[in-house]
Amino acid sequence: MSETIQLKIGDKTYDLPVITGSEDEKAIDISKLRDLTGYVTLDIGYKNTGATKSAITFLDGELGILKYRGYPIEQLAQKSSFLEVAYLLIYGALPTAEQIADFQRQINHHTLIHEDMKKFFDGFPSHSHPMGQLTALISSLSAFYPESLKPVQTAEDVNLTITKLLAKMTTIVSWIYKKSLGHPVIYPQNKHDYVTNFLYMTFGQRTEDVTIDPVIVEAMNVLLILHADHEQNCSTSTVRIVGSSEANLYSSVSAGISALWGPLHGGANQAVIEMLEKIKEDGGDTDKWIKKAKDKNDPFRLMGFGHRVYKNFDPRAKIIKKACDDILEKLGIDDEVLEIAKRLEEVALKDPYFVERKLYPNVDFYSGIIYRALGFPTEMFTVLFALGRLPGWIAQWKEMKENKEPIGRPRQIYVGAIDRDYIEMDKRELVTQ
Ligand code: SDX
Repeated sequence: MSETIQLKIGDKTYDLPVITGSEDEKAIDISKLRDLTGYVTLDIGYKNTGATKSAITFLDGELGILKYRGYPIEQLAQKSSFLEVAYLLIYGALPTAEQIADFQRQINHHTLIHEDMKKFFDGFPSHSHPMGQLTALISSLSAFYPESLKPVQTAEDVNLTITKLLAKMTTIVSWIYKKSLGHPVIYPQNKHDYVTNFLYMTFGQRTEDVTIDPVIVEAMNVLLILHADHEQNCSTSTVRIVGSSEANLYSSVSAGISALWGPLHGGANQAVIEMLEKIKEDGGDTDKWIKKAKDKNDPFRLMGFGHRVYKNFDPRAKIIKKACDDILEKLGIDDEVLEIAKRLEEVALKDPYFVERKLYPNVDFYSGIIYRALGFPTEMFTVLFALGRLPGWIAQWKEMKENKEPIGRPRQIYVGAIDRDYIEMDKRELVTQ
């Protein structure tokens, strides 16, 4: 007998089915609610609403657990590579040696972008934000690869588009960086693995075949793994709902990039470093800034703190915080903002305001310190988040298509004006906004 709950409205009682997930999460299935009762539910910000059933990522906000396809993030960060995690998220299993070699080969075959795309790069103002460039450039891929627009996509079509997007993302991201410096772009060298090729195109010099420091390669793999997916977050939900209209993968991911840009979401990693720099310039008085973060009349928020789901430590933040110390030590970098960040965390985690609201450091709190140590400018940080999140966006879009989910179209409760007749221009009164 499947589990149900009873909903009583007036003198009627309705039985609604209960869905139980593989990690024993419970949901009330309200897919027939309006037909049964005439009611819809209201949950602004979807804080209590499940949008789908997914087999990709599980997270437990109370216990601080994060798993990709059942594998704990701690193990993947320590033992896997970003390309292997991308394969796991998208295709559902860890690849064999032969499968990952073939995946790398296929990707290497597609790392070049159409030479005409260079005109887009040259068209952007020199200091335009990299995220604005990225969302435009990724969407433009559908113009160069129209097979992605075919209304009926075979599995081969979808896999070709997935491979092209994964491959060209590294080239596009590194070229955005090079263009921001006014440097010549560097073409991919397919003898490198996925992350090394990205770092070679980003930090390599055209004149010589530089070797990329293995410390930086390892750090980049860990950071990208930690950002690879996070179930139904704002940008992933955006990718899914755009894809649900049968829009192509490039435009769905482009929309996800736009959603990630916001400072409440992926844009927080840039906002954290800007916040830490401001505190440093202000003399490093962390107590003063903690006080501002608590003051409801002060718009200042402690960026990189708090999370919609994690009401305990973000497991990614724990791993990144430890990696911060290791990498800065290995690279011989002493970054004062790391000490400020640690002091902020220490003070906040003892302060009742943060404790009562269960506000802990999230993935964005320490990541920018590492990105900066690796040589990236602050405005590139959210682009790097997008590079990491790409496999997750792809996996979630693919799952939504394979499950033949309907077009996403939420309902609403109307609270506006009712029954008004048209007013001729000469009879209208000025209504102040
Ligand atoms: C990411 O969803 C995901 O999975 C996202 C992500 C992913 O991998 O995709 O994990 C990546 O986006 C991480 C979050 C990055 N954003 C930031 O660091 C920005 C700062 N954080 C906040 O803006 C906030 O915590 C959010 C946006 C992350 C969560 O917002 P919620 O869930 O809507 O919570 P809320 O804003 O309603 O806050 C609840 C209370 C409020 O106080 P009260 O009204 O109860 O008095 O906590 C306070 C808030 O004012 N609060 C903060 C705070 N975050 C929440 N107060 C000060 N500083 C903060 N950072």
